[in-house]
Amino acid sequence: MTKDTHLTFRQFMLQEYRKHDVSKDLIFLLEDIATACRTISHKIRSGAFSGTLGATEETNVQGETQKQLDVIANDQFMLHCANCSRVAALVSEELDNVVWLKDEAKAGDYIIYFDPLDGSSNLELNVSVGSIFSIVELKEPISDLTDASVLISGSEQICAGYSLYGPSTSLVVTTGHGVNGFTHLNGTGEFLLTFPDMQVPAETSEYAINASRQRFWEPPVARYVQECLAGEDGPRGRRFNMRWVASMVAEVHRILTRGGVFLYPQDSENADMGGRLRLLYEANPMGFIIEQAGGRASTGTQRIMNVNPDDLHQRVPVILGSRDEVDLIDAYHAEARKG
Ligand code: F6P
Repeated sequence: MTKDTHLTFRQFMLQEYRKHDVSKDLIFLLEDIATACRTISHKIRSGAFSGTLGATEETNVQGETQKQLDVIANDQFMLHCANCSRVAALVSEELDNVVWLKDEAKAGDYIIYFDPLDGSSNLELNVSVGSIFSIVELKEPISDLTDASVLISGSEQICAGYSLYGPSTSLVVTTGHGVNGFTHLNGTGEFLLTFPDMQVPAETSEYAINASRQRFWEPPVARYVQECLAGEDGPRGRRFNMRWVASMVAEVHRILTRGGVFLYPQDSENADMGGRLRLLYEANPMGFIIEQAGGRASTGTQRIMNVNPDDLHQRVPVILGSRDEVDLIDAYHAEARKG
Protein backbone atom coordinates (compact mmCIF):
# COMPACT_ATOMS: atom_id res chain seq x y z
CA MET A 1 0.00 0.00 0.00
CA THR A 2 1.42 3.40 -0.86
CA LYS A 3 1.05 6.73 0.88
CA ASP A 4 -1.41 7.83 -1.83
CA THR A 5 -4.00 5.29 -0.68
CA HIS A 6 -4.32 6.98 2.75
CA LEU A 7 -6.20 10.19 3.46
CA THR A 8 -4.15 12.97 5.03
CA PHE A 9 -5.31 14.34 8.38
CA ARG A 10 -6.61 17.48 6.62
CA GLN A 11 -8.50 15.46 3.96
CA PHE A 12 -10.09 13.31 6.64
CA MET A 13 -11.07 16.28 8.81
CA LEU A 14 -12.62 18.05 5.81
CA GLN A 15 -14.77 14.94 5.32
CA GLU A 16 -15.79 15.22 8.99
CA TYR A 17 -16.65 18.87 8.38
CA ARG A 18 -18.92 17.90 5.47
CA LYS A 19 -20.50 14.87 7.17
CA HIS A 20 -20.82 16.07 10.76
CA ASP A 21 -20.37 19.83 10.57
CA VAL A 22 -17.17 19.68 12.64
CA SER A 23 -16.06 23.31 13.01
CA LYS A 24 -13.25 24.54 10.77
CA ASP A 25 -11.73 26.30 13.80
CA LEU A 26 -11.52 22.92 15.51
CA ILE A 27 -9.87 21.43 12.42
CA PHE A 28 -7.21 24.17 12.39
CA LEU A 29 -6.69 23.72 16.12
CA LEU A 30 -6.23 19.97 15.66
CA GLU A 31 -3.69 20.62 12.92
CA ASP A 32 -1.78 22.83 15.35
CA ILE A 33 -1.94 20.10 18.00
CA ALA A 34 -0.68 17.62 15.38
CA THR A 35 2.26 19.97 14.75
CA ALA A 36 2.99 20.10 18.49
CA CYS A 37 2.94 16.29 18.65
CA ARG A 38 5.18 15.91 15.60
CA THR A 39 7.67 18.32 17.15
CA ILE A 40 7.55 16.57 20.54
CA SER A 41 8.12 13.24 18.79
CA HIS A 42 11.21 14.69 17.08
CA LYS A 43 12.51 16.16 20.35
CA ILE A 44 12.09 12.81 22.13
CA ARG A 45 13.88 10.93 19.37
CA SER A 46 16.81 13.36 19.46
CA GLY A 47 16.86 13.59 23.30
CA ALA A 48 19.97 11.42 23.69
CA PHE A 49 21.92 13.79 21.39
CA SER A 50 20.62 17.06 22.79
CA GLY A 51 21.14 16.04 26.43
CA THR A 52 17.43 16.48 27.23
CA LEU A 53 16.59 12.99 28.51
CA GLY A 54 17.19 13.78 32.18
CA ALA A 55 15.29 15.53 34.94
CA THR A 56 15.10 19.25 35.77
CA GLU A 57 15.57 20.65 39.28
CA GLU A 58 11.83 21.41 39.43
CA THR A 59 8.81 19.51 40.71
CA ASN A 60 5.35 20.07 39.23
CA VAL A 61 2.09 20.68 41.08
CA GLN A 62 1.70 16.91 41.53
CA GLY A 63 4.97 16.82 43.47
CA GLU A 64 6.62 14.86 40.62
CA THR A 65 10.10 15.73 39.39
CA GLN A 66 9.78 17.32 35.96
CA LYS A 67 11.78 15.85 33.13
CA GLN A 68 13.36 18.27 30.68
CA LEU A 69 11.15 16.80 27.98
CA ASP A 70 8.03 17.38 30.15
CA VAL A 71 8.87 21.08 30.02
CA ILE A 72 9.74 21.02 26.31
CA ALA A 73 6.50 19.18 25.46
CA ASN A 74 4.49 21.61 27.58
CA ASP A 75 6.05 24.58 25.76
CA GLN A 76 5.13 23.03 22.39
CA PHE A 77 1.48 22.60 23.38
CA MET A 78 1.33 26.15 24.77
CA LEU A 79 2.90 27.58 21.63
CA HIS A 80 0.78 25.76 19.05
CA CYS A 81 -2.58 25.83 20.86
CA ALA A 82 -2.34 29.61 21.23
CA ASN A 83 -2.66 30.00 17.42
CA CYS A 84 -6.39 29.45 17.46
CA SER A 85 -8.35 32.59 18.33
CA ARG A 86 -11.15 30.51 19.88
CA VAL A 87 -8.90 29.03 22.57
CA ALA A 88 -9.70 30.88 25.80
CA ALA A 89 -7.64 28.85 28.27
CA LEU A 90 -5.11 26.08 28.65
CA VAL A 91 -4.88 23.59 31.51
CA SER A 92 -1.72 21.51 31.69
CA GLU A 93 -0.50 18.77 33.98
CA GLU A 94 2.74 20.72 34.22
CA LEU A 95 1.22 24.04 35.34
CA ASP A 96 -0.30 24.86 38.72
CA ASN A 97 -3.04 27.13 37.37
CA VAL A 98 -5.11 27.79 34.27
CA VAL A 99 -3.43 29.95 31.63
CA TRP A 100 -5.99 32.40 30.26
CA LEU A 101 -5.31 33.57 26.71
CA LYS A 102 -8.17 36.10 26.64
CA ASP A 103 -9.60 38.77 28.90
CA GLU A 104 -13.05 37.31 28.53
CA ALA A 105 -14.20 33.87 27.47
CA LYS A 106 -17.20 33.78 25.14
CA ALA A 107 -19.70 31.00 24.50
CA GLY A 108 -18.17 28.88 21.71
CA ASP A 109 -14.61 29.42 22.94
CA TYR A 110 -12.45 26.38 23.64
CA ILE A 111 -10.72 25.21 26.81
CA ILE A 112 -7.89 22.74 26.18
CA TYR A 113 -6.75 20.32 28.88
CA PHE A 114 -3.55 18.40 28.21
CA ASP A 115 -0.90 16.12 29.61
CA PRO A 116 2.01 17.09 27.35
CA LEU A 117 4.12 14.02 28.11
CA ASP A 118 2.42 11.09 29.79
CA GLY A 119 4.48 8.19 31.11
CA SER A 120 7.68 10.23 31.10
CA SER A 121 9.38 7.86 33.57
CA ASN A 122 9.82 5.66 30.47
CA LEU A 123 11.88 8.22 28.55
CA GLU A 124 15.38 7.08 29.51
CA LEU A 125 14.34 3.47 28.81
CA ASN A 126 13.30 4.24 25.23
CA VAL A 127 9.82 2.88 26.00
CA SER A 128 6.67 4.46 24.53
CA VAL A 129 5.31 7.71 25.96
CA GLY A 130 2.55 9.99 24.71
CA SER A 131 0.62 13.28 24.84
CA ILE A 132 -3.09 13.46 25.75
CA PHE A 133 -5.56 16.30 25.10
CA SER A 134 -9.20 17.15 25.66
CA ILE A 135 -11.21 20.06 24.23
CA VAL A 136 -14.37 21.56 25.71
CA GLU A 137 -16.46 24.20 23.93
CA LEU A 138 -17.97 26.72 26.34
CA LYS A 139 -21.76 26.82 26.31
CA GLU A 140 -21.85 29.99 28.40
CA PRO A 141 -19.48 32.97 28.57
CA ILE A 142 -17.17 33.09 31.59
CA SER A 143 -16.59 36.48 33.16
CA ASP A 144 -14.82 35.26 36.29
CA LEU A 145 -11.56 33.92 34.90
CA THR A 146 -10.53 31.60 37.74
CA ASP A 147 -9.35 27.99 37.96
CA ALA A 148 -12.79 27.02 39.23
CA SER A 149 -14.50 28.23 36.04
CA VAL A 150 -12.88 25.49 33.93
CA LEU A 151 -13.97 22.63 36.20
CA ILE A 152 -16.28 21.21 33.53
CA SER A 153 -17.46 17.60 33.37
CA GLY A 154 -16.00 15.30 30.70
CA SER A 155 -19.43 14.85 29.15
CA GLU A 156 -18.97 18.36 27.67
CA GLN A 157 -15.91 17.36 25.62
CA ILE A 158 -16.25 17.95 21.89
CA CYS A 159 -12.90 16.38 21.02
CA ALA A 160 -10.18 14.28 22.61
CA GLY A 161 -7.04 12.61 21.38
CA TYR A 162 -3.57 11.41 22.05
CA SER A 163 -0.28 10.99 20.28
CA LEU A 164 1.76 7.87 20.96
CA TYR A 165 5.53 8.16 20.54
CA GLY A 166 6.37 4.51 19.93
CA PRO A 167 8.07 2.68 17.06
CA SER A 168 6.00 5.08 14.96
CA THR A 169 4.19 8.26 15.99
CA SER A 170 0.41 7.89 16.06
CA LEU A 171 -2.31 10.48 16.43
CA VAL A 172 -5.67 9.14 17.56
CA VAL A 173 -8.64 11.52 17.61
CA THR A 174 -12.35 11.61 18.27
CA THR A 175 -14.69 14.52 17.61
CA GLY A 176 -17.63 12.47 18.86
CA HIS A 177 -18.11 10.54 15.61
CA GLY A 178 -16.00 7.45 16.25
CA VAL A 179 -12.25 7.13 16.69
CA ASN A 180 -9.67 7.38 13.94
CA GLY A 181 -5.95 6.69 14.07
CA PHE A 182 -3.28 8.38 11.95
CA THR A 183 0.41 7.55 11.56
CA HIS A 184 3.13 10.10 10.96
CA LEU A 185 4.90 9.47 7.67
CA ASN A 186 8.50 10.38 8.49
CA GLY A 187 10.01 13.04 6.32
CA THR A 188 6.75 14.43 4.96
CA GLY A 189 5.27 16.10 8.03
CA GLU A 190 1.96 14.35 7.27
CA PHE A 191 -0.27 12.28 9.49
CA LEU A 192 -2.06 9.72 7.29
CA LEU A 193 -5.24 7.81 8.15
CA THR A 194 -4.03 4.28 8.87
CA PHE A 195 -6.55 3.01 11.46
CA PRO A 196 -10.05 4.19 10.49
CA ASP A 197 -12.99 3.62 12.83
CA MET A 198 -11.10 1.98 15.69
CA GLN A 199 -13.26 -0.33 17.84
CA VAL A 200 -12.66 -1.92 21.23
CA PRO A 201 -13.88 -5.54 21.11
CA ALA A 202 -16.58 -6.12 23.79
CA GLU A 203 -14.91 -9.27 25.05
CA THR A 204 -11.26 -9.67 25.90
CA SER A 205 -8.76 -11.90 27.69
CA GLU A 206 -6.15 -9.29 28.54
CA TYR A 207 -5.88 -6.88 31.46
CA ALA A 208 -3.40 -4.22 32.58
CA ILE A 209 -2.75 -3.26 36.19
CA ASN A 210 0.29 -2.38 38.30
CA ALA A 211 0.36 -5.69 40.18
CA SER A 212 2.99 -4.45 42.65
CA ARG A 213 0.15 -2.61 44.38
CA GLN A 214 -1.81 -5.80 45.05
CA ARG A 215 -1.59 -5.45 48.83
CA PHE A 216 -3.41 -2.10 48.63
CA TRP A 217 -6.24 -3.23 46.31
CA GLU A 218 -9.86 -3.04 47.32
CA PRO A 219 -11.85 -6.32 47.35
CA PRO A 220 -13.65 -5.88 43.96
CA VAL A 221 -10.35 -5.34 42.12
CA ALA A 222 -8.58 -8.14 43.99
CA ARG A 223 -11.50 -10.45 43.11
CA TYR A 224 -11.42 -9.53 39.42
CA VAL A 225 -7.67 -10.10 39.08
CA GLN A 226 -7.80 -13.31 41.12
CA GLU A 227 -10.45 -14.68 38.78
CA CYS A 228 -8.40 -13.76 35.70
CA LEU A 229 -5.33 -15.43 37.20
CA ALA A 230 -7.29 -18.63 37.88
CA GLY A 231 -7.46 -19.24 34.10
CA GLU A 232 -9.36 -22.22 32.64
CA ASP A 233 -10.11 -23.68 36.07
CA GLY A 234 -11.48 -20.45 37.53
CA PRO A 235 -14.90 -18.81 37.22
CA ARG A 236 -13.91 -17.08 33.95
CA GLY A 237 -13.18 -20.44 32.32
CA ARG A 238 -10.34 -19.10 30.18
CA ARG A 239 -6.78 -17.81 30.38
CA PHE A 240 -6.03 -14.10 30.68
CA ASN A 241 -2.87 -12.34 29.63
CA MET A 242 -1.42 -9.38 31.60
CA ARG A 243 0.48 -6.33 30.31
CA TRP A 244 1.80 -3.18 32.05
CA VAL A 245 3.76 -0.56 30.10
CA ALA A 246 3.41 2.14 32.82
CA SER A 247 2.37 4.55 30.07
CA MET A 248 -1.38 5.06 29.87
CA VAL A 249 -1.25 6.16 26.23
CA ALA A 250 0.44 2.90 25.22
CA GLU A 251 -2.07 0.85 27.25
CA VAL A 252 -5.07 2.64 25.70
CA HIS A 253 -3.60 2.24 22.22
CA ARG A 254 -3.21 -1.50 22.78
CA ILE A 255 -6.82 -1.72 23.99
CA LEU A 256 -8.03 0.17 20.91
CA THR A 257 -6.03 -2.18 18.73
CA ARG A 258 -6.74 -5.62 20.22
CA GLY A 259 -9.04 -5.08 23.20
CA GLY A 260 -8.41 -5.42 26.90
CA VAL A 261 -9.06 -3.61 30.13
CA PHE A 262 -6.86 -1.09 31.97
CA LEU A 263 -7.16 -0.51 35.69
CA TYR A 264 -5.61 2.15 37.87
CA PRO A 265 -8.09 1.79 40.70
CA GLN A 266 -8.41 3.61 43.94
CA ASP A 267 -6.59 1.60 46.59
CA SER A 268 -5.87 1.94 50.29
CA GLU A 269 -2.67 3.87 49.61
CA ASN A 270 -3.93 6.40 47.04
CA ALA A 271 -7.47 6.76 48.45
CA ASP A 272 -6.67 10.09 50.16
CA MET A 273 -5.79 11.56 46.77
CA GLY A 274 -8.85 9.96 45.11
CA GLY A 275 -6.80 7.63 42.91
CA ARG A 276 -3.69 8.01 40.76
CA LEU A 277 -4.63 9.36 37.34
CA ARG A 278 -5.82 12.89 36.69
CA LEU A 279 -9.43 13.50 35.67
CA LEU A 280 -9.32 16.49 33.35
CA TYR A 281 -6.38 15.64 31.10
CA GLU A 282 -6.00 11.85 31.45
CA ALA A 283 -9.18 10.05 32.49
CA ASN A 284 -11.73 12.25 30.66
CA PRO A 285 -10.06 12.27 27.22
CA MET A 286 -9.22 8.56 27.38
CA GLY A 287 -12.75 7.84 28.61
CA PHE A 288 -14.24 9.77 25.67
CA ILE A 289 -12.03 7.95 23.18
CA ILE A 290 -12.77 4.51 24.64
CA GLU A 291 -16.53 5.15 24.70
CA GLN A 292 -16.46 6.42 21.12
CA ALA A 293 -14.77 3.14 20.17
CA GLY A 294 -17.55 1.10 21.80
CA GLY A 295 -15.86 0.51 25.16
CA ARG A 296 -16.60 1.81 28.67
CA ALA A 297 -14.75 4.00 31.14
CA SER A 298 -15.69 3.92 34.81
CA THR A 299 -14.35 4.81 38.24
CA GLY A 300 -15.85 1.54 39.50
CA THR A 301 -18.85 3.44 40.81
CA GLN A 302 -19.73 5.88 38.02
CA ARG A 303 -19.02 6.82 34.41
CA ILE A 304 -15.76 8.79 34.35
CA MET A 305 -17.22 11.47 32.08
CA ASN A 306 -19.99 12.14 34.63
CA VAL A 307 -17.61 12.98 37.46
CA ASN A 308 -18.06 16.62 38.49
CA PRO A 309 -14.54 18.01 38.83
CA ASP A 310 -13.69 19.91 41.99
CA ASP A 311 -10.02 20.57 41.36
CA LEU A 312 -7.88 21.26 38.30
CA HIS A 313 -5.53 18.38 39.09
CA GLN A 314 -8.13 16.07 40.64
CA ARG A 315 -7.36 12.35 40.57
CA VAL A 316 -9.86 9.57 39.97
CA PRO A 317 -9.88 5.77 39.82
CA VAL A 318 -9.77 4.59 36.20
CA ILE A 319 -11.14 1.34 34.80
CA LEU A 320 -11.54 1.39 31.04
CA GLY A 321 -11.62 -0.79 27.98
CA SER A 322 -13.73 -3.69 26.71
CA ARG A 323 -17.36 -3.18 27.68
CA ASP A 324 -18.06 -6.61 29.19
CA GLU A 325 -15.00 -6.50 31.45
CA VAL A 326 -15.71 -2.97 32.73
CA ASP A 327 -19.34 -4.02 33.36
CA LEU A 328 -18.11 -6.99 35.39
CA ILE A 329 -15.70 -4.90 37.48
CA ASP A 330 -18.48 -2.35 38.11
CA ALA A 331 -20.76 -5.21 39.17
CA TYR A 332 -18.11 -6.40 41.65
CA HIS A 333 -17.92 -2.88 43.06
CA ALA A 334 -21.73 -2.74 43.38
CA GLU A 335 -21.76 -6.12 45.14
CA ALA A 336 -19.01 -4.99 47.52
CA ARG A 337 -20.99 -1.84 48.37
CA LYS A 338 -24.01 -3.99 49.22
CA GLY A 339 -21.72 -6.08 51.45
O1 F6P B 1 -0.06 9.38 34.84
C1 F6P B 1 1.07 8.87 34.74
C2 F6P B 1 1.34 7.42 34.46
O2 F6P B 1 2.65 7.36 34.01
C3 F6P B 1 0.42 6.70 33.47
O3 F6P B 1 0.75 6.97 32.15
C4 F6P B 1 0.65 5.25 33.83
O4 F6P B 1 -0.45 4.43 33.50
C5 F6P B 1 0.88 5.30 35.31
O5 F6P B 1 1.21 6.64 35.64
C6 F6P B 1 1.98 4.40 35.74
O6 F6P B 1 1.91 4.23 37.10
P1 F6P B 1 2.94 3.32 37.95
O7 F6P B 1 4.10 4.20 38.23
O8 F6P B 1 2.18 2.96 39.18
O9 F6P B 1 3.31 2.14 37.12
